[in-house]
Amino acid sequence: MNMKIAFIGGGNMGEAMLLAVLDKGLASREAICVSDVNQARRELIQQRYGVATTDSNRQAVHGADVVVLAIKPQNLADVMAELNGQLKPRQLVLSIIAGARLATLCAGLDHGAVVRVMPNTPAQIGEGMSVWTAASEVAPGQKEQVASILGAMGREVFVDDEKYIDMATAVSGSGPAYVFLFMESLVEAAVHIGLPRDMAREMVMQTVIGSARFAGKSGKPLAELRKMVTSPGGTTAEALLRLEKGDFSGLVKQAVIAAHDKARKLGGSGD
Ligand SMILES: NC(=O)c1ccc[n+]([C@@H]2O[C@H](COP(=O)([O-])OP(=O)(O)OC[C@H]3O[C@@H](n4cnc5c(N)ncnc54)[C@H](OP(=O)(O)O)[C@@H]3O)[C@@H](O)[C@H]2O)c1
Repeated sequence: MNMKIAFIGGGNMGEAMLLAVLDKGLASREAICVSDVNQARRELIQQRYGVATTDSNRQAVHGADVVVLAIKPQNLADVMAELNGQLKPRQLVLSIIAGARLATLCAGLDHGAVVRVMPNTPAQIGEGMSVWTAASEVAPGQKEQVASILGAMGREVFVDDEKYIDMATAVSGSGPAYVFLFMESLVEAAVHIGLPRDMAREMVMQTVIGSARFAGKSGKPLAELRKMVTSPGGTTAEALLRLEKGDFSGLVKQAVIAAHDKARKLGGSGD
C-alpha cells in the first residue's frame, strides 16, 4: 500500500501518525507532505523524517489520497475555510481533532468523505487506542486505508454511531491521564513509606505494565484477577478496604461521567 498522505499540523499527534505510517511502510517518504504554520516544527519534521513540508495547507492536500487533520480545535475554523472547495470527492479526510463532529467537518469542508478518530497518546509508541467513525460517503476501500493507518499506531476500533466517540474520549482518550495520576499517587505513597524514589518508580511502572499485559493475556475477568491477589485478612484486602471507604470506584465513575459530559458539550451535543 503506498498512499499519498497530507498532514495538516505536524505536532505531537501528527508526528506520531507520520512515524507509524513510515514505520509500517504504508506510504513512502516521497508520498508524504506535512503542512504546519510553525517553521521550527516543519524543520524538525523534515530533518527527522525526510518528508516534504510546506506552510501552505492548500498545497499539501493537492493530489493526496488521505488528508489528516491534526491541528488544535481552535485552528479548525481557519483550516476549514482554507480547504473548502479544494478537495476532490475521492480524497479522504481523517480528523483527529477532539470535539469536531462529522457534520461540522463535512459542512465546513464541503466534503463528504470524512472520518473522525479519537486516538490517545500511547499512539506515539505504537501502543495507542483509536476509536473511529465514518461519514456515509466514505468508501469501503477508504475504510481499509483508515484501519491500516490507525492500526499502525496500535489498536483501532470502528464504531457506526458517533455517540461512541464522545464515550471513547472520556475512556481511552483521557484514560492515559487517569492511569498516570494513579501511577504518580502510587509512587508518592511508596516514597512515603520509605522506598527510594527511583526504586518506587520502577516498581510502579512494571506493576502497571505487567498487570495490563497479564489481564490482556489471561482473558480472565478483572475482578477475578483482583481476587487472586487478595488473600482473606491479608495486606491487599486491607488496602482495598481503604480504597472502598474512599469510594474509589464511585469517584472513577464520576470522573468518566464528567469527561463524557464535557466531550458532548464541546462537540455541541451536550445539554
Ligand atoms: N495529544 C493528545 O492526547 C490527543 C489525543 C486525541 C486527540 N488529539 C487531537 O489531536 C490534535 C492535535 O493535537 P497535538 O497535541 O498534536 O497538537 P500540537 O502539538 O499543538 O500540533 C498542532 C500543530 O499544528 C500547527 N498549526 C496551528 N495552526 C495551523 C494551521 N492553520 N495550519 C497548519 N498547521 C497549524 C501548530 O503550530 P503552533 O504550535 O505554532 O500553533 C502545531 O505545530 C488536537 O486537535 C487534539 O484534540 C490529541
